[in-house]
Amino acid sequence: MNEIRLGVNIDHIATLRNARGENDPSLLEMAFEVIDGGADSLTMHLREDRRHIRDEDVHEIRKHSKVPLNLEMAVTDEMIRFALGLRPKSVCLVPENREEITTEGGLDVSSMSSKIKDAVRLFKAEDIKVFLFVEPDRETLKISADTQANGVELHTGSYARNFLHEAARQRELHRLEDAAHAAKSQGLELHAGHGLNYVNTVSMKHIVGLTEVNTGHAIISRALKTGLSRAVSEMKELLR
Ligand code: PXP
Repeated sequence: MNEIRLGVNIDHIATLRNARGENDPSLLEMAFEVIDGGADSLTMHLREDRRHIRDEDVHEIRKHSKVPLNLEMAVTDEMIRFALGLRPKSVCLVPENREEITTEGGLDVSSMSSKIKDAVRLFKAEDIKVFLFVEPDRETLKISADTQANGVELHTGSYARNFLHEAARQRELHRLEDAAHAAKSQGLELHAGHGLNYVNTVSMKHIVGLTEVNTGHAIISRALKTGLSRAVSEMKELLR
């Protein structure tokens, strides 16, 4: 079985930086830490409201990162233009709603299929891979394949939310496995993400054909848990 690649979403670092309006923590410096830790790619979601990642962040990371950049983006003319200018390794098309705290569900590929097809054509012409962030169900995967996208990122939010309830967890895992099978038989590359953490990620290894997971929140939270005590003791030391 091949190792699953890890894409790390660094949006939360920008949220923390923006809280003080200056450059601490520096997103670029933290991106280097993430890469040092073994991340295979970096993911950034440039939202319409620019609530965390800003245009210049994406350009800076694109310029200096030695691992590929995956840009998460809404399917809007503004974002398509931006991404075509940036030329990341891949884009992941996601639904976006101003009121949401994080991306809530998968793309409505059925009603957006013509817009998605246009975007896929433009990106593929520039050698940018296109992934669609979708719910794990067969019909959605069929329509996704029809857009000619390179692959899909299966939304694991429901699996993650139901993880602690045995029957529901098995049902959600089964949905993911079934969707993975459908994706592979349609020739789609297979990624997964959302809500994955240090407990529920291990089962992803059993999803046949899965090549990459994208994880953000759990890793940034974990970094606080594993690094906070040391940060305090370093400050204490200065006062001794
Ligand atoms: N994949 C996609 C498409 C997302 O929108 C997000 C959230 O930004 C993630 C993965 C990462 O989710 P989490 O922060 O819960 O790990």
